[in-house]
Amino acid sequence: MKHKPAVNSSHAYSIDHECSIDQIRSVIAQNRSDHLLHILHALQQQLLHIPHRAVAEVASHLNLPVGQVESVVEFYSFFHNIPRGRYNILLSNCTSCGYMAGGKNLLQLLCQLLGVVAGRTRADGLVSVDQTSCVGMCDHGAAMLVNDRPIIRLDSGRIERIAALVNAAVPLEGWPEEWFDVDDNIRSSGLLLKDDLVAGDGLHAMIARGADATLDEITRSGLRGRGGAGFSTGMKWQFCREAPGDAHYVVCNADEGEPGTFKDRILLHSYADEVFEGMTVCARVIGSGQGLLYLRGEYRYLLPQLQAVLARRRELGLLGRNILGQPGFNFEIEIVVGAGAYICGEESALIESLEGKRGVPRNRPPFPVTHGYLGRPTVVNNVETFSAAAHIALRGSAWFSATGTGKSAGSKILSVSGDCAAPGIYEYPFGVTIQQVLEDCAAKDVQAVQVGGPSGTLIGKAEFGRKLGFEDLPTGGSFMVFGQERDLLAVAVNFAHFFAHESCGFCTPCRVGTTLLKNGVDKIAGGHGTHYDVDELKRLGALIKRRSHCGLGQTAANHLLDVIQRFPQVIEQRLAHSEFEPYFNLDAALEEARRITHRNDAAAHLE
Ligand SMILES: Cc1cc2nc3c(=O)[nH]c(=O)nc-3n(C[C@H](O)[C@H](O)[C@H](O)COP(=O)(O)O)c2cc1C
Ligand code: SF4
Repeated sequence: MKHKPAVNSSHAYSIDHECSIDQIRSVIAQNRSDHLLHILHALQQQLLHIPHRAVAEVASHLNLPVGQVESVVEFYSFFHNIPRGRYNILLSNCTSCGYMAGGKNLLQLLCQLLGVVAGRTRADGLVSVDQTSCVGMCDHGAAMLVNDRPIIRLDSGRIERIAALVNAAVPLEGWPEEWFDVDDNIRSSGLLLKDDLVAGDGLHAMIARGADATLDEITRSGLRGRGGAGFSTGMKWQFCREAPGDAHYVVCNADEGEPGTFKDRILLHSYADEVFEGMTVCARVIGSGQGLLYLRGEYRYLLPQLQAVLARRRELGLLGRNILGQPGFNFEIEIVVGAGAYICGEESALIESLEGKRGVPRNRPPFPVTHGYLGRPTVVNNVETFSAAAHIALRGSAWFSATGTGKSAGSKILSVSGDCAAPGIYEYPFGVTIQQVLEDCAAKDVQAVQVGGPSGTLIGKAEFGRKLGFEDLPTGGSFMVFGQERDLLAVAVNFAHFFAHESCGFCTPCRVGTTLLKNGVDKIAGGHGTHYDVDELKRLGALIKRRSHCGLGQTAANHLLDVIQRFPQVIEQRLAHSEFEPYFNLDAALEEARRITHRNDAAAHLE
C-alpha cells in the first residue's frame, strides 16, 4: 500500500479551492477515455492532484459509487489528494536502477539542491521529489520519472543540471533530448528477438491452419507462461475457450513490476506487432472480440507509439472487423494504463484494476479462465508469452520445442542488471547455466545472483552451474548480479522495504508480516540484531509464505530466507553479542532532542 503525506496541508487546501468545479468538469469532459484510471490520471496531471470535489464528479460521470473512486485514489501510488509539484520527480529506489547505482545519495543531493523534503511539495508548488519502486530502467543506471517521462543514467552531474533546469522552470521540451533516450540494449537474440516476423504473417498462418489446429500447435509447442508461474499456455487457452459465456476476453499483462525486470519494455517498444499479433491469435482461438493490454504506469511514455502500432494494424486489416477478410473475425485491443502498484501484476488484481477498482487479488478459484474480466472467461498472459504465441502460429510447434529443455520449451528473455559490464537484454534457450550468462554479460568476481527478482532465488558461486528453466531455476526474467563488494544485507533491506511498501494490505499475514520482516532486517543491518531475531525472521518468513492470500506474500520472504541460508556470514557478522536487544533504538529516539538543542557532538549520542 502506498504511504502518502497527511491530507491537512494548508497549501493543498488552497489549491483545492483554486480548482473550480468547471475546471474539474472540463478535464473530465476532454478526456477521451471513460476508464476510471485514465480520468484520474488526467486530473492528476492537469490539476496536480485529485481534489475531493473531483471524486464526486468522476463518480457521477462514470455512475460509480463515490467510495469506489475514493478508494482507487487512495490505493494507487501515482494519485494524490494533495498537490504534487509542477515538476513531479520520482527517483527509482529499485536495487538495480536505484540503490546499486547510488540512488540514495542522488535523492539527497536533488532534495538539497531544490530545497525540498522527499515526499513533500515545495512551498511554491514548483517541484516535488519522492521515491518510487523499480521503473524498469535497470540497464541504464540510476533512473527517475519526471512528469511520467523516464530520465536515465543519473549521476551527480546530471542531478545538478536537472535541479538548475527545474529551478529555472525550463519546460521538459527544453531539456537535453538524450536524457530521455531509452535504449533497447539487446545483447543477444534468439527465437523471439531475431525480428523476422512480418506483421500479419502469424495471422495468415493461423487462418490457413484453422483455430483448432492452431490451439493444438500452441499446446504441442510446450509454451509455458513467461510471467513467472509457467502454466501451460495451450491449456489456459483451451480452458477459456471451453468456458461458457457470451463474451471472452484476452488480457496482456504488461505490468512488469518485479524489480530488475525490463524485458517487456523492449518487446513493447520494438516488437509490439508480435505482442498484438499473439493477442489476436489468442482471440481467434478462444472466440474473443475484445483485448486489453494493461500497461504499467511507469511505461506510459510508450503509449503513443503503442497506439500508433494499433492504428497501423487497423489500417492493414489486422485488427477491427472481419480481420484479413475473414467474416466474423472481429477483434479490438484497448490499452489501459496502471498507476503505480506492483500488486496489479498479479492477474486477478490486474483484472480488478482493469475494472476500475483497487488492485486487490481475488479469491481463486474461480480462475480468470472462467471468471475473469467483468466475470467473463479471460486469458491473461504475459507480453513475452503472446510474442512467443505469434511466432508459434507462424512456424509451428516443432520449430519452438526444438529449442530449450524437456519441461521448458523455447527461449527465455532475460533482463540482466547489476554488477556487470554489459547489462541489457539476453535471449537464451532454456537450460542455459547461470555461469554462461555471467560470462556473456562480462560479470567479474561475482558474489551472488538474484534470479527472478526479489520474489525469486538468491544463489551463490557454488550454484552457478544451475540452469534456467522450470526444472531448476524458473524466472520471470530478472537477473541481478552482485559483485564481491556488494553488501547483501543492504540488498535484503532494499527488498524487504519493497515488499512492505507494495503489500496491498488485504490479508494480515502479508500486511503485518512484510512490515515485521522489514523491521527485523533493519534491526540486523543497524547492528542491533541477535540470534533470537534471526530465528524470529525464519519463523515469520515461513508463516507469511504459508498463510498469505496471494503470490506477493507467499514469496516476500524468499530473499531473506535465502540470505540466511546461503550467506549466513553476511548476517552473522552484523549480529550484536547478546541474546536479545530491543528493537527500540534509544539513540535514534533522541534525534529530535538533538535537533532542537542544536547538538550533534559525540557527547549528545549514546553510542
Ligand atoms: C505480485 C505478483 C506480481 C506479478 N507481476 C506480473 C507481471 O508484472 N507480469 C506478468 O506477466 N505476470 C505477473 N505475475 C504473474 C501473473 O499473476 C500471471 O501468472 C501471469 O500474468 C500469467 O501469464 P503467463 O501465463 O503468460 O505467465 C505476478 C504475480 C504476482 C503474484
Ligand atoms: S498476500 Fe495479501 S496483503 Fe499481500 S499482496 Fe497478496 S492479498 Fe495483498
